[in-house]
Amino acid sequence: MTMARITLGIETSCDETAAAVFHETQGILSSELYSQIALHATFGGVIPEIASRTQLEKIKTIIQYALASAHLTINEIDTIAVTYKPGLPGSLLVGVCFAKALAWAEHKKLIGINHLEGHAFSSFLENNVPFPHLCLTASGGHTSLYLITGFGDYQIIGQTVDDAAGEAFDKIARLIELGYPGGPLIEQLASEANFVDFFHYPRATGTGLNFSFSGLKTAVLYDLVKRNAYDMQSKKFLKSDDIEFKKQVASSLLVCIKDIFIHKIEQAAKQYPQIKAITFVGGVACNQYIKKNILNFCTQKGLQFFAPSPKYCTDNGAMIAFVGNYKAAQGKFSDLNLDILR
Ligand code: KG4
Ligand code: ZN
Repeated sequence: MTMARITLGIETSCDETAAAVFHETQGILSSELYSQIALHATFGGVIPEIASRTQLEKIKTIIQYALASAHLTINEIDTIAVTYKPGLPGSLLVGVCFAKALAWAEHKKLIGINHLEGHAFSSFLENNVPFPHLCLTASGGHTSLYLITGFGDYQIIGQTVDDAAGEAFDKIARLIELGYPGGPLIEQLASEANFVDFFHYPRATGTGLNFSFSGLKTAVLYDLVKRNAYDMQSKKFLKSDDIEFKKQVASSLLVCIKDIFIHKIEQAAKQYPQIKAITFVGGVACNQYIKKNILNFCTQKGLQFFAPSPKYCTDNGAMIAFVGNYKAAQGKFSDLNLDILR
């Protein structure tokens, strides 16, 4: 009798310390996480040194939590899957070193996982997505379009040539003195302004299926200056107390980014007419407004649409355990020479 495979997933690529257990037939048994958002919020972004030190402090406990809430011990785990790229080197090293030590000491199989492959397959944690499909990944560090034809079988068909979409939300939120991360705050303010496009920021559609968001940040900055809302010399926002104005900026920005996404998806769907579904993943896929608009597009085109629950959109261990599980089934293991960013 063959036993169902059980995989422990470890994710420490940025400012989340996450671990999860995935069971081949029962699905996700646990998914635990320590988020450092509060530690970095005062700086308006992630500070790598603080991120890696905190990973080191939390990793053992988070893995113990993940095993305990799955009602398992390390003995029942077959494979340890760990994110090895891309990410902050110091943060990645913590997860990879811990995973290697644990695999060696407990005689477990080890698999290094690409964080982006984790996001790309995160829709499968809760749904059976048909192949082939398109996946739009949008997070604080990445914005890419994938054509996905099978488990572990995917190609990048478009990506950002500069900033990520989440980065655009975060940087523009900072310009108008909202907190960090900017995405959720922008969405909240935009909804209070009923998603009206007040300022018509340029829809920099980049070339082909690629994205470009750094121009959008500059365009918003110049638009603020034009409206006497920003002083270039002192680098100061001049409408700190004008909440209505902030709502207008937030609303215009969200509509603009939504339009860019829809435009790219439409182009990609034309180019790859064989697709059966579209998935939207990564931190930005927490955004209800963008999700609703992509869903409408899919409904019109007769495509299925999937987006993970918010806890599986942002960084998590479950997506790493899931990818680790199918890689183990495919026999694609790593050895103890596994290194970060290789
Ligand atoms: O996937 P994630 O947790 O981390 C990375 O791998 O980058 O994504 C974080 C990003 C941040 O830029 C954040 O502003 C954005 O996701 N985000 C959102 C929303 N919630 C989080 N962006 C737009 N709307 C949201 N509701
Ligand atoms: Zn991520």
